Amino acid sequence: MQNFSLAPDGTEYILPNEEQSKIEREEILRITEEQKKLGRKIVTVQGLGFVGCVMAVVIADAVDENGEPIYYVHGHQRPSKRSFWKVPVINTGIPPVNSSDKEVPELFERCVNQKKNFRATWHDVAYEVADVVVVDIQLDATKPAFGEAEKGYCDITHFRDGMRTLGQHIKPDCLILVETTVPPGTCQKIVKPIIEEEFIKRGINIKKNPALVAHSYERVMPGAKYVSSIRDFWRVFSGVNEQSKTLAREFLSNVLNVENFPLTELDNTNASEMAKVMENSYRATNIALTLEWARFAEKVDVDIFKVRDAIRKRKGTHDNLLRPSLGVGGYCLTKDPVLANWSMKDVFEIDDTLSVAVNSVNINDTMPTHTVDLIKEEIPELRDVNITVLGVSYLEDVGDTRHSPSFTLVRLLRENWAEVICHDVYVEFWAELETEEVHNDLDTVLKGAEVVILAVGHSAYKDIEPADLVKKCGTKPLIIDCSNFLSDEKIKQYKNLGCKMKGVGKGHIENL
Ligand SMILES: NC(=O)c1ccc[n+]([C@@H]2O[C@H](COP(=O)([O-])OP(=O)(O)OC[C@H]3O[C@@H](n4cnc5c(N)ncnc54)[C@H](O)[C@@H]3O)[C@@H](O)[C@H]2O)c1
Repeated sequence: MQNFSLAPDGTEYILPNEEQSKIEREEILRITEEQKKLGRKIVTVQGLGFVGCVMAVVIADAVDENGEPIYYVHGHQRPSKRSFWKVPVINTGIPPVNSSDKEVPELFERCVNQKKNFRATWHDVAYEVADVVVVDIQLDATKPAFGEAEKGYCDITHFRDGMRTLGQHIKPDCLILVETTVPPGTCQKIVKPIIEEEFIKRGINIKKNPALVAHSYERVMPGAKYVSSIRDFWRVFSGVNEQSKTLAREFLSNVLNVENFPLTELDNTNASEMAKVMENSYRATNIALTLEWARFAEKVDVDIFKVRDAIRKRKGTHDNLLRPSLGVGGYCLTKDPVLANWSMKDVFEIDDTLSVAVNSVNINDTMPTHTVDLIKEEIPELRDVNITVLGVSYLEDVGDTRHSPSFTLVRLLRENWAEVICHDVYVEFWAELETEEVHNDLDTVLKGAEVVILAVGHSAYKDIEPADLVKKCGTKPLIIDCSNFLSDEKIKQYKNLGCKMKGVGKGHIENL
């Protein structure tokens, strides 16, 4: 049986055994003792994913008025085969995520190797020594099928297990700051009771030591401003009691740039949790609106992007109209409206539906079928057609492929027996499609392409010149522009080179 964890670069890291566990425990206790003597408080970040790993270094980088680190940070990553590799990789000072933000590797190098106040571990003793635990583990929502978001549900078993581990280990006065996006009601109705149940088992008097639980959600954007979107950004928070609120305010004020981006405190954690999922539902709904109108525009000779620009001139009310594309992906917008709807029904037992929010998820999830339809308008039979997909991550200039619309696109094309080859600037290994090779060399993927799909708007693709692309293909491919890549000028150039052109929301192409 496999006893190693495979890193994206192919390196195998052996999972820790009992002996190493003993050594690791001693090491964490030794480091903690040393750091406490330096007057530093101990923070443990639970979950070193896209959010947790960068939040951890932002905390480690926080300094007091003398420029000294305020905290020592243990990053806790459970030792699963899928994710354990992050621990040894981080401990060399290398981030476990790919990003176009140069500050990410700089912070890892600074905190791990220079200041030496951040270290990753898999050992639960990191919770025993913590003054604050920041929870950044995942909590998923499942949809039975695309187009059935209203039947989506949230399996909180894994999240509950994570909270139980904390209840079994933390000191009674440790603050738990939940940053995971959770269904409203989670801190009050799930986290606090679990922690106090475990406290009682440990003989802790919960009247004297009620669980200290706060919620503050991340608005991180893992692109060019990854670090800044955590540190230099507005934060909303609340707590299950006054002490939790006070501790959360103090912690967030130490770590974030609250001078320029003041904190917003809400009445209770239900409100803070609701703010997060409503914020993302708003975004998902905004995009869904543009996707529907993009399809309308295509039928009536209209460029939806010019329409959008015209509407956005109404500053203050309409300038945040988002734009259509291949579809909506990522970990958040695809699930957060579902979490909210599930919470209303299952956590609060209210007989109602957040229909606008869940319908937006349905529209967004099914959008990649539209790109397949666009291709079929020109090439009705896709069997054995060579199709090149440029961009497999869910967003421009990031390497995150979770719930990427390109995944749905590739799956649909293959169901039509097309020959699909994929390229990305940031992705080497497509975890969701384990067998899939993602190429980084344009020459390889374009050779012989009969259809080129400009799927994701990575900056690097913007420089591709029409004549160069056509030369690399050696054909006159059908070009599908999913992200408003191409100016009218470039579209004309492609047409002059003999290419057929289509684009999401670009109904004016025929007339150019
Ligand atoms: N990715 C984003 O852009 C983003 C933005 C805002 C909010 N969020 C929210 O933040 C949360 C985390 O998201 P993410 O993208 O970092 O997820 P992720 O899946 O990348 O990371 C979660 C990590 O936690 C680890 N983990 C899970 N259970 C654990 C446990 N019990 N102990 C220790 N480690 C554990 C996993 O192995 C994984 O490495 C989610 O709720 C998400 O909705 C994400």
